[in-house]
Amino acid sequence: MNGPAGRAPGEVTEDEPGDDRGTEGHPEGGMGRPGPRIGDAIGDMLRDAYEASLDPSAAPVLQIAERDDGLVIVLPVAPWIAPIDQWPDEERRALDLLKGRVLDVGAGGGRAARALLDRGHDVTAIDISPGALEVCRRQSIRSVVRGTVHEHATTGAKYDGFLLLGINLGLLETRQEAPRFLRALAAMAAPGAAIVAQGRNLTDSDDPLHLPYNQRNLRAGRIAGQRTLRIRYRDVATPWFHYLNPAPRELAELVPGTGWELTDITHFENSTGSYLATLRREG
Ligand SMILES: C[S@@+](CC[C@H](N)C(=O)[O-])C[C@H]1O[C@@H](n2cnc3c(N)ncnc32)[C@H](O)[C@@H]1O
Repeated sequence: MNGPAGRAPGEVTEDEPGDDRGTEGHPEGGMGRPGPRIGDAIGDMLRDAYEASLDPSAAPVLQIAERDDGLVIVLPVAPWIAPIDQWPDEERRALDLLKGRVLDVGAGGGRAARALLDRGHDVTAIDISPGALEVCRRQSIRSVVRGTVHEHATTGAKYDGFLLLGINLGLLETRQEAPRFLRALAAMAAPGAAIVAQGRNLTDSDDPLHLPYNQRNLRAGRIAGQRTLRIRYRDVATPWFHYLNPAPRELAELVPGTGWELTDITHFENSTGSYLATLRREG
């Protein structure tokens, strides 16, 4: 008797649904399945979430964070564009720690840049996502920069504060990249400047979904809480990127020699394992 599509049982063709050796969207290439298009998934989802926030009848916009071992986490995008009165306490507290001219690093849809402007700060939003910066502009955030902190550091711009909100301490990426990232911020730091960064400690997680991944990282010489992720939205995926979720003691080891001093770590009750790190410019 033949199986599906007239094939003999056990016969495998190139079009077998379970034959997922690779797709064009996958770094290894493969069997010709198109896979997700690689593009500005973050910008697309923020643009749609911003539109949805203006329309009470709109369906919620969801993003998928995909870890490179296949774990997927589905999250609503609305919090990324929520006004400050809807934020958790620790995020509001982060803004209280900033003074003067602020660079909102990985600004996303600009919720923090907007709130800082409303408090009278001079704010620049920097992000690699063109769509994210479009949403910033729609909220009248006029000073926007598309690019990385390394590129921006070459312009001679100076700031009194650097905000890494939304667990953006993750932008330190890896043990090797973190000091380079911190030195780029130091090059843009006015005397007395501060970095205020929200981080999450996945190194010490006891969640069974994290333990084998953390152990694999340790065997590879990485910080246990490092993640390799991509964000997916509809048919688009960002390229894969590293995201660092260190324990505070691991962060402390990355800072010496970067021009910064780690001056405070604040944990918040009822928080989801996140903390606020404050670093002060040395000298
Ligand atoms: C988790 S979202 C946080 C957004 C925002 N800080 C907030 O709290 O709403 C991370 C943002 O960082 C941006 N991003 C990722 N890598 C970046 C890089 N190397 N330089 C600048 N921005 C980056 C992404 O495009 C995204 O908009």
